[in-house]
Amino acid sequence: MSAPGRFITHAVSEPAPIPIPLSRPPVDDELKRAVLAAMDSRQYILGPECCRLEAELAQDTGVKHALLTSSGTAALWLTLRALGVKAGDEILVPSHTAFPTVEAVCLAGAKPVFVDADVFYTIDPADATAKVTPRTVGIIPVHLYGQPVDLAAVRDLASRHGIWLLEDCAQAQGAEWDGRRVGGFGRAAAFSFYPSKNLPAMGDGGAILTGDDEIASRCRRLRDHGRLDKDVHAEVGFNLRFNELQAAALRVLLRRLDTMNERRRALAARYTHELADLPLVLPPTRHRARHVYHLFVVRTPRRAELAAFLRERGIQTGVHYPIPTHRQPAVERFAPPPVPRTERLVDEILSLPMSADHTDEEIDRVVAAVCAFFGA
Ligand SMILES: Cc1ncc(COP(=O)(O)O)c(C=O)c1O
Repeated sequence: MSAPGRFITHAVSEPAPIPIPLSRPPVDDELKRAVLAAMDSRQYILGPECCRLEAELAQDTGVKHALLTSSGTAALWLTLRALGVKAGDEILVPSHTAFPTVEAVCLAGAKPVFVDADVFYTIDPADATAKVTPRTVGIIPVHLYGQPVDLAAVRDLASRHGIWLLEDCAQAQGAEWDGRRVGGFGRAAAFSFYPSKNLPAMGDGGAILTGDDEIASRCRRLRDHGRLDKDVHAEVGFNLRFNELQAAALRVLLRRLDTMNERRRALAARYTHELADLPLVLPPTRHRARHVYHLFVVRTPRRAELAAFLRERGIQTGVHYPIPTHRQPAVERFAPPPVPRTERLVDEILSLPMSADHTDEEIDRVVAAVCAFFGA
């Protein structure tokens, strides 16, 4: 025991900074009540909550049909099967995307043809046009980071060459092109409800949106073992169904989608304003698009140093994506052509914390740390 009146001195270290995650999914009482009510219903798979969510998603996007699936990858793959994709078909995909875009093409038996990125990091319509061959059947543009691709150019390309257009909207729920929600510009669209996405589930989930009756009914059948009815299986499908607990939560969040996206846009504006004078490339934005900032991606040749500096200060960052899909070992056999802009991008991109649930104070801490790194 120490003598009264005497101080004990400890080696005092800096308290660890409170961590700031890259993304923070919402959790609150309204969501918990919705999930518990679904639990009480004792109907867990493709029940009334799923039915209502499908109707609400279709209405929200302005598209005739919405079908819930077990993931965004499942949504892509089911749609490709419903489109009749077969071995030998070529499909134009951006190399700069999440691997599932390309994976779905491979699973459907087709060949992914890798297209370079444009200055907005999304599929370059000029490079896509140059890569069309007689075997090309479709194009999957990805609204990457929450920003629509150049839909005017991509739709024009698809109609000139008589190929279908499947929008990958996994990162862009609620984004708009010319004032219209993405997801209604092609034959079909695939969405993801992965927990960091703009419409986040508490697990995996996805959806197909389409105005095409045949694609909708084929996907509906394929996601449930190729069933025509309870006992008859018209074809071999799979189990790619969605569930009631998730649908109940997503119905609550869909009502908040615009508010959540506005919040992301406000945080992006805060970053943009505060980081404007640094030697950092900020996200480029298209004037016909409403960007919903699934990710806030900056560029610097000092990416690794900046990420390490932020990590030491408790700030999580990400790289979406460090290895472009055309260089993934899984698709080496397609001997992809060079995509130089993508190659340069992937060494410099860094995703800063972003979600509707981040606070202004957290973003200010990130800004202060980035400024400190650049000595500003
Ligand atoms: C662009 C893109 N496409 C497809 C997917 C696949 O979605 P999921 O993870 O729900 O299967 C993702 C998710 O990571 C994505 O970001």
